[in-house]
Amino acid sequence: KKKAFIFDLDGVIVDTAKYHFLAWQKIAAQLGINFTHEHNEQLKGVSRIRSLDIILALGNVTITQQEKDNLLQQKNEDYLAYIQKMDESEILAGVLPALQYLKQNNQPIALGSASKNARPILEKVNLLDYFDAIVDGNDVTNAKPDPEVFVQAAKKLNMPTEGAIVFEDSVAGVQAANVAQMVSVGIGSKAVLHEAHYNFDDFKVINTTFLENLVNK
Ligand code: BG6
Ligand code: MG
Repeated sequence: KKKAFIFDLDGVIVDTAKYHFLAWQKIAAQLGINFTHEHNEQLKGVSRIRSLDIILALGNVTITQQEKDNLLQQKNEDYLAYIQKMDESEILAGVLPALQYLKQNNQPIALGSASKNARPILEKVNLLDYFDAIVDGNDVTNAKPDPEVFVQAAKKLNMPTEGAIVFEDSVAGVQAANVAQMVSVGIGSKAVLHEAHYNFDDFKVINTTFLENLVNK
């Protein structure tokens, strides 16, 4: 039996959420906006443009389109400087064994990420070869919680959308998976990701029996 296994990137495979946070925090500080870790939860899984709008709304700040473009560019340059230094040591614990298990058992694997930097990050951490399909922020027009990214990923794998399995650390991503009638596996705080079908604190606690059961469900 085969199931489409779709992985989010930031916060699931690698802990890049911390770099996104640092880059946004710098922008917020420049704008005189207080930006906390709690605020940051709203930004997870959300596109770059939408993230800036959320921060501006938090501070009740209005700026011109030109200023927005400059800040978006600055944010990405700062973020790229962080990910430049990434290597395999930044793959989150438990992820590699799960990918290896799925590969060994001939399960189709895709990436479903909102990020436009997904490919270079997978390259940096040397995981590109595990993925049969990659759908990222460059491919979709509708961001999570719209299911487009996951629907495209299942299509690229030549698998049905219904019953595909999605690993997500964001509320928007869990909602996207659920809308597409996929099986959502929340990675992170259960309090935050309570809409997910399954919850795990991290990949370390996901064992092969769980993955095997998902395949045979
Ligand atoms: C998501 C992250 O994966 O990608 C968001 O959770 C981020 O925080 C989004 O804003 C877009 O990423 P990028 O790399 O295109 O700015
Ligand atoms: Mg994520």
